[in-house]
Amino acid sequence: MKRDPLLLNKILAALLAALLVATMSTFFAGIIYGEEHSGENEPVALALVDIDDEQGASAGSTAEESASEEVVPFAKLLANADVTHGKALAKKCSACHTFTSSGANRIGPNLWKISNRAVAKVAGFKYSSAMKEFGGAWTNERLDKFITKPKNAIAGTKMNFVGIRKPQDRADLIAWLKTLE
Ligand code: HEC
Repeated sequence: MKRDPLLLNKILAALLAALLVATMSTFFAGIIYGEEHSGENEPVALALVDIDDEQGASAGSTAEESASEEVVPFAKLLANADVTHGKALAKKCSACHTFTSSGANRIGPNLWKISNRAVAKVAGFKYSSAMKEFGGAWTNERLDKFITKPKNAIAGTKMNFVGIRKPQDRADLIAWLKTLE
């Protein structure tokens, strides 16, 4: 008579324990499945890290490249400019431009006093609409950019000239153009 309630307790305890084990096993199965799952994803995660590293490396090298092509301020280049050399370089322009006060327009407009002159204002020259839209005046910086690579500086210009790559050459040429002021 005394055993019956204890037995019932034992049975209930056993049932609870079984339920607990079932729950726990589901729980651990979840963990194991989860671990396996994240294991599958690991290469993807590593690949992402690799891509990030590559991007970091390429960003670094781009910074290095621009650092190696050190930009000397234009004013400094102009201060050290060789005007005689600039005049010699202007021969590259003479195929299309004249530089004297009464010079005619050739393939390009006359460039007398071009430094600080208004853009696209030579009478009788048919400028491209890109040049007309550019507007403003020919500052040192604008001349420098334009002569570097005309088609890059003003998309749609009809000045078919490759450009002058060396910054000091451009400064020499612009220094000579300024003597025409
Ligand atoms: C192959 C012919 C050609 C050569 C070479 C050339 N140019 Fe030009 N240039 C042109 C033409 C064409 C235009 C008109 C561009 C337009 O309307 O888009 C022009 C326009 C210009 C202008 C704008 C003039 C204005 O009135 O606003 C400048 C500045 C200029 N050239 C400078 C130079 C210099 C400096 C050189 C030499 C380093 C040079 N060009 C070489 C054909 C040439």
